[in-house]
Amino acid sequence: MTVDEPLVLGIETSCDETGVGVVRGHTLLADAVASSVDEHARFGGVVPEVASRAHLEAMVPTVERACETAGIALHDVDAIAVTSGPGLAGALLVGVAAAKSLALSLGKPLYGVNHLAAHVAVDQLEHGPLPEPCLALLVSGGHSSLLRVTDVTSAIDPLGSTIDDAAGEAFDKVARLLGLPFPGGPHIDREARSGSSVAIDFPRGLTSRRDLERHRFDFSFSGLKTAVARWVEARERSGEPVPVADVAASFQEAVCDVLVRKALDAAAAEGIEDLLIGGGVAANSRLRSLAEERASKLGIRVRVPRPGLCTDNGAMVAALGSSIVSRGHAPSSYDLPADSSLPVTSVLAD
Ligand code: KG4
Ligand code: ZN
Repeated sequence: MTVDEPLVLGIETSCDETGVGVVRGHTLLADAVASSVDEHARFGGVVPEVASRAHLEAMVPTVERACETAGIALHDVDAIAVTSGPGLAGALLVGVAAAKSLALSLGKPLYGVNHLAAHVAVDQLEHGPLPEPCLALLVSGGHSSLLRVTDVTSAIDPLGSTIDDAAGEAFDKVARLLGLPFPGGPHIDREARSGSSVAIDFPRGLTSRRDLERHRFDFSFSGLKTAVARWVEARERSGEPVPVADVAASFQEAVCDVLVRKALDAAAAEGIEDLLIGGGVAANSRLRSLAEERASKLGIRVRVPRPGLCTDNGAMVAALGSSIVSRGHAPSSYDLPADSSLPVTSVLAD
């Protein structure tokens, strides 16, 4: 096995995307994703049982597609990596079972990895080796956290996280209120472009002096979501039209303002000069521009993977797997469990 440039196949099934990626070292060879998002749209959120069944159906064709795109045969790979948590229990199980079957039948080592760490590691496929330490802001439909990444394969410390809704969840719920389709983030992003971000002064969660004492690096978006709901209801009651673009822009500004403010505060507190933003919400155009604008004034560099690598995919799992193999960590055992609440401090499951 080439330890420097391992060929790794990564499998991701923690939510509604069946992702299979192939990397050699930090070179992306294939990133096949089958999403069940359309099947969840009418429920306004991901339905776990529907996601698990969709993973089962998509797994073999997605593995085949990834190998074909990468121009490899399964027996060429040096290792199999899989998201073992956190995520939806039934969905994770499908990926873990598939990875175990492949690893056992091919006689290859198996690495059960942390989904959040994989969201960080993926950036290496686009921008090269990670600056370590770096500060990571992970924002998606299922998670919102600030992490100190000392070594992406073994030393990640959580500095703060959401105490209620995840950032993407807030985007999805507000979009629903505004009659926009699920998942709502991209629709709010688009609507906001023709609205005013200062039209409505929505609350910035956990930013008061008192809240900062206990929750300096934590987030809260449920108060903001309720404030938007009340504002829209009041408009509807008075018979006036709801200015969708203004609500979208003002809501988006409130979320991005808090995310960027707290991320930069955390970077300053930790003495870190590199901020990495990942997860589905990192695709948001305002989040990207606001982070760049404020960080450059502080001399902090910002790295954001391209949108396709920000949302859940198998390449991120393969990227983390490849770093783990290169750094010589021992593989997981073949009876690796799926752990829906795997803490971010466990980058590699035993
Ligand atoms: O990382 P991801 O694909 O899956 C989870 O792990 O949850 O993130 C999906 C989330 C959804 O909530 C979606 O609305 C949000 O990312 N999202 C966005 C944008 N694109 C996707 N939120 C804001 N602006 C966007 N452009
Ligand atoms: Zn994710």
